Amino acid sequence: MLRGGHASYFGAGVELWEWNLKIRTKVVVLLTGVFLLFALIEWGVGEMLLLPRFEQIENENALTAMKRIDAGVSQALDGLQVSATDWGNWADTYRFMEDHNKDFSQENLNPIAMKQLHISALAFIDLDGKIIWSLSQDPVTSTPLPLDLFAVDSLPADFPWTDNLRDATPRHSLIATNHGVLLAAVAPILDGYGHGPSRGLVVMGRLLTTAEVKMIGAKAQTSVTLTAMHIVGRQIPKFLPDATSVDRSTQMAATADAKQVYRVFRDIFGQPVMTLRVDEPRTVMAHARATVTSAMGFTIGAFVVVLVFLLLVLDRTLFAPLAKVTRHAIAIGAGDDLTTRLNLERRDEIGTLASEFDRMVAQLSESRRQLIDNSFQAGMAEFSRGVLHNIGNAMTPLSVRVAKLHQQLRTAPVEDIERALSECGQDNTPPDRRADLDEFLRLASGEMAGLVKAAEADVGMMMRQATMVQNALSERLPSPNARTVIEAVELPAIIHQSLEIVPDSCRDQVDIEIDRSLQVVSPVWAARTVLRLVIQNLIINAAEAIRAAGKARGIVRFTAAIQSEGGRDKLLLECEDSGTGIEPQNIQRIFERGFSTKLGKGNSGIGLHWCATAINALGGRIWASSEGPGHGAKFHIVIPVTPPAEAAGSKAA
Ligand SMILES: Nc1ncnc2c1ncn2[C@@H]1O[C@H](COP(=O)(O)OP(=O)(O)OP(=O)(O)O)[C@@H](O)[C@H]1O
Ligand SMILES: [Mg+2]
Repeated sequence: MLRGGHASYFGAGVELWEWNLKIRTKVVVLLTGVFLLFALIEWGVGEMLLLPRFEQIENENALTAMKRIDAGVSQALDGLQVSATDWGNWADTYRFMEDHNKDFSQENLNPIAMKQLHISALAFIDLDGKIIWSLSQDPVTSTPLPLDLFAVDSLPADFPWTDNLRDATPRHSLIATNHGVLLAAVAPILDGYGHGPSRGLVVMGRLLTTAEVKMIGAKAQTSVTLTAMHIVGRQIPKFLPDATSVDRSTQMAATADAKQVYRVFRDIFGQPVMTLRVDEPRTVMAHARATVTSAMGFTIGAFVVVLVFLLLVLDRTLFAPLAKVTRHAIAIGAGDDLTTRLNLERRDEIGTLASEFDRMVAQLSESRRQLIDNSFQAGMAEFSRGVLHNIGNAMTPLSVRVAKLHQQLRTAPVEDIERALSECGQDNTPPDRRADLDEFLRLASGEMAGLVKAAEADVGMMMRQATMVQNALSERLPSPNARTVIEAVELPAIIHQSLEIVPDSCRDQVDIEIDRSLQVVSPVWAARTVLRLVIQNLIINAAEAIRAAGKARGIVRFTAAIQSEGGRDKLLLECEDSGTGIEPQNIQRIFERGFSTKLGKGNSGIGLHWCATAINALGGRIWASSEGPGHGAKFHIVIPVTPPAEAAGSKAA
């Protein structure tokens, strides 16, 4: 019982722990789930809304950079245009176009002048399209660079600028040459005052070298690269699907570090002539990503802080009080103590739960008390039967003794004595007769004296047995309300007393052996009357078992010991006999009410049942053991022995 209780309590502890863990885990899982959902939404917003928006900004930045390059190229062309116009509207040039004066050309049209103008090509074309004078060179090193454009006598018939010869308007464009792309501008040759008629065109060009491209990039504050020139064959570069569409002449690409914008520039014929690429570093995206990542990091950090905080708060406000209520409920369920209360001083739902639980336990305790009282009332009849059984046990030897005494008294020669006395009193009684009568009276007196002595002993015994009956009658019911009287009991003495109320027929069949241990442990503080009645039952049963085994006499041996159980001293009293023994299947059934193997012989199967009930009521227990039929039986009784300090108003047995 006790062990079972402990096991289930520890079991409950594990369950409690699991339960606690479960709720906690559920909360953590729930919060984590909510957080993950939140993080997912945040990630989705970042990836699908913010980052694409930033990428768009980056694309726009790259396109703007390319526009600045476009403007840079246009600016370079405009610069050339200004120089060409300046040179075209100059009286000396105007004259040179007519007289082809060599001095003018030697003085003004030389590599130094071109270097100062930072141009690669200079040419004068008359109104028929004939190239009057031309020179081309590297603008930095002044190395001659013969251009195929000027290698012919006249401009080709389809050359777009031949129109300029007629309308005399300044123009500029890109021209593919054998040395690369030429930024070229034409201006009409006028008289120095801006008046015509025009005498031809002045052509100024600057080769778009890598250095030149870099310079344009530097002015536009971006990084630009000349990625392709299409001066031969004029093929459309592969990455551009169609060069005819102006819209698609700009193409975007991206690397991990930069957004790239490719732009195809067209020449004077409208053909693709070169591709410039702008590389805009992806700083916007890098910043955006860093922002999104740190926002995510912040969210995770905030979640962890919130989770820890929440768990701490929940631990204090929910988990711990709940665990306390549960622990309490389990302890009450596993044990038997209905006196403890939770008394949680809280005003929330857990407080209400706890106080309701306390109220329930109080109600339960009250109900149990009532139930015990009721069952006690109900058990009274049952117990009375046991008491009657004990009285029956005590009455049997009493009535036998009375019958024997009656028989002895009946056979006493009372009438003969009376007759002899009356004869002796008569005067006419002869002396011989008188002598005989005297002799008779003397013998009869002796016999009567013996009879009276024996009767006196019998009556003494009968008086003791009557006291036993009185005791059995006054034996109080085992109940919480009726405290059994605890007395200091000398064990050997109580066994002798028990033997006295055993029927003679039984007593004659047993040799009682009282082990020294009974003397050693005595006195013990116990319910003397109950103990005596129990021992009486055991002796009668043992005698009956010895008789049933077909033996004239048998041994009944008592041993005792004090042992500690649950911190309390208990008496272990054992009674072993050499009777029939007990079948294994009956070893527990013998304590059932009405179980008897001796039915029909005046037995009713109440003795051991009463013993068990009475001993249980004292907080003890009784059980039997036997090696089987023919090996005798042993009865074991354990009862608490109250220390003398706790036993009030006691007296030795
Ligand atoms: N010492 C013993 N040896 C063998 N069997 C026993 C012994 N004591 C009791 N028993 C068995 O236990 C049964 C129940 O015993 P119990 O004292 O309760 O009833 P009973 O002796 O049969 O009848 P009652 O005591 O009411 O006159 C007995 O019938 C017997 O079979
Ligand atoms: Mg019996």
